[in-house]
Amino acid sequence: MTSRIYDEKILILDFGSQYTQLIARRVREAQVYCEIHPFNLNIEEIKKFMPAGIILSGGPASIYDEDAPMAAKEVLDLRVPVLGICYGMQYITHALGGEVARAEDREYGSAVIRIEDDQDLFQGLSRDKGEMVWMSHGDRIIRMPEGFQCLAGSKNSPVAAVADRSRKIYGVQFHPEVVHTPNGMKILKNFLFNICGCKPLWTMSSFVERTVADLRRRIGKERVICGISGGVDSSVTAVLLHRAVGPQLSCIFVDNALLRRGEVQEVMELFGRHYQMDVHLVDASEHFLEKLKGVTDPEEKRTIIGREFIYVFEKKARELGKAKFLAQGTLYPDVIESVSFKGPSATIKSHHNVGGLPEAMNLELVEPLRELFKDEVRQVGVELDLPRELVMRQPFPGPGLAVRILGEVTRERLEILRSADVLLLEEIRKADLYDKVWQSFAVLLPVKTVGVMGDERTYEHVIAVRIVDSLDAMTADWTRIPYEVLARISNRIINNVRGVNRVVYDISSKPPSTIEWE
Ligand code: XMP
Repeated sequence: MTSRIYDEKILILDFGSQYTQLIARRVREAQVYCEIHPFNLNIEEIKKFMPAGIILSGGPASIYDEDAPMAAKEVLDLRVPVLGICYGMQYITHALGGEVARAEDREYGSAVIRIEDDQDLFQGLSRDKGEMVWMSHGDRIIRMPEGFQCLAGSKNSPVAAVADRSRKIYGVQFHPEVVHTPNGMKILKNFLFNICGCKPLWTMSSFVERTVADLRRRIGKERVICGISGGVDSSVTAVLLHRAVGPQLSCIFVDNALLRRGEVQEVMELFGRHYQMDVHLVDASEHFLEKLKGVTDPEEKRTIIGREFIYVFEKKARELGKAKFLAQGTLYPDVIESVSFKGPSATIKSHHNVGGLPEAMNLELVEPLRELFKDEVRQVGVELDLPRELVMRQPFPGPGLAVRILGEVTRERLEILRSADVLLLEEIRKADLYDKVWQSFAVLLPVKTVGVMGDERTYEHVIAVRIVDSLDAMTADWTRIPYEVLARISNRIINNVRGVNRVVYDISSKPPSTIEWE
């Protein structure tokens, strides 16, 4: 790595906490580059990484569990600053000869700590009025290792933060990375800037500059193929590549009949006309509808759509002639999931990506966004002058409207859903909610209900409205939409969409429900 933006890197060792990704996002927000690796990364790899500092994450284990996760023991001898968070702090204590024991009460939730020392880690925090922090632990420190001093304490954890300044090793019992620790970002920045000596070099404009140069070097004179879907990740990937290698890039956009109204035209207009890219639209709508005929099982729908996408994409790519590379918009959370300590253990829904394509076509993968979190990708989009509406677009599933039509997908049912979707989004935008919620969409249910219109009895479809708040789609809650907005959505859909006489609002959170209905 040659560029200065990678000169100062923080290594995060993951002991399995649900907050590990959040630690990484906060470090990046402070404009310092960081990577998450499993807790047992071997010492040679750690040295090769040349971290400016190491953060040991929290984790669900107790240090005295038989199979408690342990880092390479030399981690604390590298003369590199270390910050242990929760389990990470208990690990440090245990490894350096201190003592950890079960707390009498599990401490979970907000707590107040008293700062006893505000020299470096807690610089700028108040020693008088107590600091709100977020605790989540069952163990606590009862004896510090030799050379350590206590920086803060709380009622339940008399030793809530420790330091050995001569070795630059620090530990906090609470979670500075979560929003419930209001001064958490200040604490993390103190670690990064005061203790590790980092500078805020990680910006998206420096990322674009470096990535374009890297892509040019790697691709040379070869050709690249990129699938675009109209979503943020594939759009940013395509525009980055276009900036790097211009006409050597060919994009393929598959119309699978499952897109929203106007989407095909918008995508073609933006990439073809505005950016003047080589974009090939494949109208495969008939093909997909034919394959989906009579299919009602959600997993079967997903499997068919994934398989047919690969078939159609590959066929077009071959027609376009020999390419060496396939570009994909893989993001950092997907990468972490495959390397980290504990990923989701079961596939709840099979996600439709272009998995399997590179092997089938003998192409080399290019994934220029694989180091980035979603909010960073959006910033890159802004750097690349992508339209705001696209950069801020809500997520849309790969299998498209098929997973929002319960039961069989037909042309007629797609039209009903598209009309409802347009009206719903119009009202959400008018109420200035589009950017504030995670997703807002309509679902067509496979039941009909009785209604009355004028003097006529009707027997028509039901639309469910799903609007959720979320940070990362792993958990979500239904949005408390003002009644007036719900009323307008319902009125407009029932009055304007033929074939619908009832609208309901989905008030389920994830878990146990999921965001999409299928
Ligand atoms: P669920 O329904 O699992 O959705 O709660 C979580 C998030 O993922 C999106 N989603 C998908 N995205 N391909 C995608 O690229 C898919 O097959 C897919 N299925 C769900 C969903 O919209 C939500 O944001």
